[in-house]
Amino acid sequence: MCGIIGYKGSKNAADIILSGLSRLEYRGYDSWGVAIKNAQGLEIFKQVGKISDAKEHEEKIAKGTMGMGHTRWATHGKVTEENTHPHTTTDMKIAVVHNGIIENYQTLRDTLLQKGHTFTSQTDTEAIAHLIEEYTKTTDFLTAVKSALSDIKGSFAIVCAHKDCPDLVCARRDSPLVIGVDHKNKEYFVASDIPAFIEHTKDVLFVDDNELVILKDRPVFYNLLDGRVVEKKEHHIDWSVEQAKKGDFDHYMIKEIKEQKETIKNALAQKDSVLEGLAQKINEGFGVFFVAAGTSLNAAKSASYMFSKHAGKHVNVADASEFEYYKNFLTPKTLMITLSQSGETADVLSAVKAAKEKGVEIISIVNVMGSSLARTSDVSLLMNAGPEICVVATKTYTSQLAILHLLAYAVTGRLERGREWLKYAADKVDELTSDTEIKKLENLAMRLKDSKHMYLIGRGLSYPTAEEAALKIKEVSYIHAEAFSGGALKHGAMALIEERTPVIAFAPSDETFDDMISNCMEVKARGAFVIGISPKDNEAFDFHIKVPELNGTSPIANIIPIQVLSYYLAVLNGLDPDRPRNLAKSVTVK
Ligand code: G6P
Repeated sequence: MCGIIGYKGSKNAADIILSGLSRLEYRGYDSWGVAIKNAQGLEIFKQVGKISDAKEHEEKIAKGTMGMGHTRWATHGKVTEENTHPHTTTDMKIAVVHNGIIENYQTLRDTLLQKGHTFTSQTDTEAIAHLIEEYTKTTDFLTAVKSALSDIKGSFAIVCAHKDCPDLVCARRDSPLVIGVDHKNKEYFVASDIPAFIEHTKDVLFVDDNELVILKDRPVFYNLLDGRVVEKKEHHIDWSVEQAKKGDFDHYMIKEIKEQKETIKNALAQKDSVLEGLAQKINEGFGVFFVAAGTSLNAAKSASYMFSKHAGKHVNVADASEFEYYKNFLTPKTLMITLSQSGETADVLSAVKAAKEKGVEIISIVNVMGSSLARTSDVSLLMNAGPEICVVATKTYTSQLAILHLLAYAVTGRLERGREWLKYAADKVDELTSDTEIKKLENLAMRLKDSKHMYLIGRGLSYPTAEEAALKIKEVSYIHAEAFSGGALKHGAMALIEERTPVIAFAPSDETFDDMISNCMEVKARGAFVIGISPKDNEAFDFHIKVPELNGTSPIANIIPIQVLSYYLAVLNGLDPDRPRNLAKSVTVK
């Protein structure tokens, strides 16, 4: 995790770096820092806390036209100013920002200590700065960076600068990095993700693993393994600057929840020929695995019910971090379908690596164009949801569900029918985010905000919805929320139901309705406060949240009231829903 940005141009680097860092904050917000190169050398500014408070520090940051910044999600070492990036050498000639983990940092550090280097932090990153310095004793800065990187084991996206070198040097291995170019104004950007510089340019060059880029009068790419220059193709990104901004909303979370009517429709913009080709692969595959993490994993679980219901097809679902342990089952006839908003989740990427070693074909459904996952897959579908900045996933969950529905329908040759259902669902979703509905959910949040525990139940297609709903509530409100299948509750968790315990029940008008009502009655009889999410009210509900009649596509709509409820549970408890404690949007470490 962590977010990094670098700039080389003619404007004040600090302004560009600070606004970029605030867009990257979803990647980590423990502390942040900036290094500016100017005639005085490298000037560093560091601060513990969130970048959103940065405006007040702007004046204290040095002026210069080249620099780098970092927002940290701590891995090695506590959240302190010393551990905040950029890390420098003792003589302040070299500065480095880093995202990733240096696995052999302890060995490197010990060797460097013996050679007389002094360390001031507990981070793995500081070893990179000192290692480069060690090499500069015998060679130039650029060669020193290359040599240092070949000694490093682990993952990195780095930006580094030397006080006497006019260029920024960047490199990546297993951590994201993208270059932004504005040739007209001779401005070059490097960042962990595109929103960091999207207000300056939408033309990008993707950095591949084991590549080093020098930002000179234009970016020059080298292969770190053989030293050769690599020619790169520029891509134009069609995300808008507005999509990456909060606009009039208080938080990205509510903005992104409200965007869903559009984003579900955008997700449908997949070529029929591509979907039909994938459907054929699914039909022919000997073992189909859906692999993902977090919210994307809940979408994958939903897919397993969808494929059963709409396509009569069995598919397997695996938590990406567990997938490696299935690898003995894999054959070249296995198909792996990965889901990831960021396309950078380390657990997903290592699952893909394990599968590729067994000759498995990889399909991905991602939101970020050019992400590592998109580029390592054999076929990749884009969610087209625009940047999702809030740490917790909302709109990309429903985009994933929409694409998975399309695929399930395509498997039985009913793609057009699937599209019609989804367009209808997208229109209905708008009703769920009307001002009246939002106010109703805010009032419900007021009643629930002091709860210590909440339970969520659903059956069939709605069971993964209950799991995603529980995840949303915990992530942003820190209230303990746990999901069970309607039937499982009586096998143990029922012991936890007390007077007024909130139980949220998903009861769509499908084959699960009657059993869900019985489950609601069972918990109600034991004192639970039952909140029913259903197209129709029922005496089993103490509070009814009306959702549209959608039957097979109900998971797309039914999660939305809980996204809104979670948002208000956080806000009413004085929490920042965009940046929940301890979490990062893009988890690039295993
Ligand atoms: C992190 C985020 C979650 C996200 C998960 C998977 O844990 O906090 O919100 O669902 O990563 O991310 P991905 O980008 O692979 O969908």
